[in-house]
Amino acid sequence: MINFKELCDKYDTPLYVYDFNQITKKYNNLKDAFKARKSMICYALKANSNLSVLKHLANLGAGCDCVSIGEVKRALMVGIDKYKIIYSGVGKKDLEIQEALQKDILMINLESEEEMKRVETIAKKLNKNARISIRVNPNIDPKTHPYISTGLHENKFGVDIDSAKKMYLYANKSQNLTPIGMHYHIGSQIVETLPFKEAAIVMANLLKSLKSANIDIKFFDIGGGIGIKYKDERTISLYEYAQNIFEALSGEDVTIVCEPGRYMVGNCGYLLTKVLYEKSNDKKRFVIVDAAMNDLIRPSLYQAYHDFELLDDNDEEKSFADIVGPICESGDFLAKNIQIPKTKHDDLIVFKSAGAYGFTMSSNYNTRTKAAEVAIVDGIDRLIRGRETFENLIELEKDFI
Ligand code: LLP
Repeated sequence: MINFKELCDKYDTPLYVYDFNQITKKYNNLKDAFKARKSMICYALKANSNLSVLKHLANLGAGCDCVSIGEVKRALMVGIDKYKIIYSGVGKKDLEIQEALQKDILMINLESEEEMKRVETIAKKLNKNARISIRVNPNIDPKTHPYISTGLHENKFGVDIDSAKKMYLYANKSQNLTPIGMHYHIGSQIVETLPFKEAAIVMANLLKSLKSANIDIKFFDIGGGIGIKYKDERTISLYEYAQNIFEALSGEDVTIVCEPGRYMVGNCGYLLTKVLYEKSNDKKRFVIVDAAMNDLIRPSLYQAYHDFELLDDNDEEKSFADIVGPICESGDFLAKNIQIPKTKHDDLIVFKSAGAYGFTMSSNYNTRTKAAEVAIVDGIDRLIRGRETFENLIELEKDFI
């Protein structure tokens, strides 16, 4: 059991806390599910890109799915094998493409025909051969929140199957492009197996037709999207998930790449916050805490629910309240219409399942400094990102005019 009170006294709040032993378990569970075939777990950095988290995953043998050259640099910095790094994203800039080619990572994942041509031009200039994959949009409904659904034609990601085929044929003939992978990612926080299965079947068919055109695809990248428990969601069986992919790929010699973000870190993280005040009017009761939407934006942005625990629980009867932050926006809340006993100044509230898309989506809105981050490794706490200071925030504005 993590002693949250002690951590809070030592590091203050708001504070992110990650259980690294849990991360290890998640990684091993997934690796295990895929053990019957060649596979690679390429962790999606966007979920939590703290360097110590990445180093921990690098030590376990993970690769990385990156969506900016900054993420690629983070991955390389902690020693992730360059041939396990994939670089995706709908809008890569010339310099980013150039740097990715110079860093010789496993592959650049293309999201449009125009981008393919740019990569080709830049590779030619550098006298290089760019290993590429193509992100295909299989038009499968992942049945998740619309903001985190990505595999439908109404979403901006990837290209449709027919365009992908044309792109593969073009790339295969190019002197400066080598197609080695295919990629899809249908959405995030998916709690049903069926959409994954349907997408795998559609994509395996594409793989087969490419093979018959002598395009040698070595990596079949199934993206991320595995949902986790925030409240009472049923989650998928990893075994079944992997088996469905194996079935779709039966007879095909490819390395399966899986890009989990949330699954790997979501349930392993906590956001600690202290109560500042309470207030009520004739309509509402508010518990005002020292963390806000700038620390954890998921409730405000996706109406996401994060379970919480009031550590200083008392015998007072519970009543409905919103847990809100100090930011000057009505949309600044961490929980809405939840039941909680009367709280007092400095009571500690722990928000759970905050390890993914928590800190990485945090901001400095209202000139608030970002939370500190702590890792728990074998019961020992280690500060892995210090608390930002006001000086950090104004660093680039110091020479104001
Ligand atoms: N691969 C690709 C190409 C992706 O776009 C994503 C997530 C992943 C892998 C990892 O997906 P995961 O395993 O974490 O579901 N901010 C949102 C989630 C956005 C996900 C974007 N793409 C949230 O807080 O729910």
